[in-house]
Amino acid sequence: MRLTVIGTGYLGATHAACMAELGHDVLGVDVDPEKVAALSAGRVPFHEPGLPELVAKHTASGRLRFTTSFAEAGAFGEVHFVCVGTPQRADSGAADLRHVDAAFAALAAHAAPGALVVGKSTVPVGTAQRLARNHATEVAWNPEFLREGFAVEDTLRPDRLVFGVESARAETVLRAVYAPVLAAGTPLVTADFPTAELVKTAANAFLATKISFINAMAEVCEAAGGDVRTLAEALGHDDRIGPKFLRAGIGFGGGCLPKDIRAFAHRADELGVPLTFLREVDAINMRRRDRVVELARELCGSDVRGARVTVLGAAFKPGSDDIRDSPALAVAARLRLEGADVTVHDPEAMDNARKAFPSLGYALGLEDALRGADLVLHLTEWPQFREIDPERAAALVARPRIVDGRGVLDPDRWAAAGWRFRALGTPAPAGEGH
Ligand code: UDX
Repeated sequence: MRLTVIGTGYLGATHAACMAELGHDVLGVDVDPEKVAALSAGRVPFHEPGLPELVAKHTASGRLRFTTSFAEAGAFGEVHFVCVGTPQRADSGAADLRHVDAAFAALAAHAAPGALVVGKSTVPVGTAQRLARNHATEVAWNPEFLREGFAVEDTLRPDRLVFGVESARAETVLRAVYAPVLAAGTPLVTADFPTAELVKTAANAFLATKISFINAMAEVCEAAGGDVRTLAEALGHDDRIGPKFLRAGIGFGGGCLPKDIRAFAHRADELGVPLTFLREVDAINMRRRDRVVELARELCGSDVRGARVTVLGAAFKPGSDDIRDSPALAVAARLRLEGADVTVHDPEAMDNARKAFPSLGYALGLEDALRGADLVLHLTEWPQFREIDPERAAALVARPRIVDGRGVLDPDRWAAAGWRFRALGTPAPAGEGH
């Protein structure tokens, strides 16, 4: 089939390449000529495992092309996927639908009669109905659930497909688009527009709630002397709860969970169904950052002014160079404001971090980052940080003091190598001064 993908950011570029992989002829459309030029040359302007290979393969095979022209897209596509961003509005926390509205308007002007326009962007419930009413084109909603770092895998082998459709024809078209995915046994849920939109928002709200739940338990453990890692392990054995998304730590960040729960809370208010617990989920999440700053002060003897602080991690999670709402960089920036001399190290996200936070120091090598540090903060759990040898690291730093903001380092091992070790929701190791 001939598909277009409007918006070639993280979601759109992945979707376009994966649709080509499924055998379709795909035209990616973006208003940014630089993005279009890079992708046309087979280059992906962000870090996503497996995606550069797919883009290179299909730009070479001719199944994947990119353009800035909506007229070309309209003439080409039988199905148009809208994958543009829905950023958070600074004033209210609501989703900014400017790009979605512009994409639908442009498609309405250019799409061939009978073409199907499929929304994939995360939008406030009610958007699909409004767009279908305002434009003559046929509309469907097909939310995505992809995780950064696993975007290709999550697109080609999703846990489920959700089709928000209001006609048998739209369902038939989407079934044809995803035929190989459905043939592999992927569950399909068809729904009306509001339900399809809500699946995405509800899923993200649930995941954020699960993380904030375990982080609230970490706060209780800190107050009561318990250990949240052991607690999470025991909770996870309950099939009804499950072990995933129960890692306590500095909390969630990234381009999705924080903004999506705020937008959902805002939309729910509008609908007269206040989801006040989502504001608490957000507040618990932000408090974890404060707690790391507090622990940093405590380990530096009440004040971080003049202290050399090494921050391990800049990306909002490992496997990504995305620094949007990164808890690690939020903490680094706070400590810098309080007068610390902060050096950041990250295996992938240094360039992005440097652009956004030019006042922080950056070290390209891990050993350079550690050398001379008065305090180390482990804030993004890259596998290479887990492999740091505490004894070797102790020889590099000025003072062996560390906060594990991700709850993955072994407290006893670090304490045995002479480190003062603090983690969120986990007691300080025995035999180590407080
Ligand atoms: C998320 C959803 O998983 C995905 O389905 C949706 O489409 C977009 O948002 P993503 O933002 O890529 O994906 O990251 P994810 O792997 O879900 O992690 C989100 C954040 O939660 C990260 O900051 C991560 O460090 C944090 N997290 C995750 C925890 O703090 N604890 C956990 O147990 C799991």
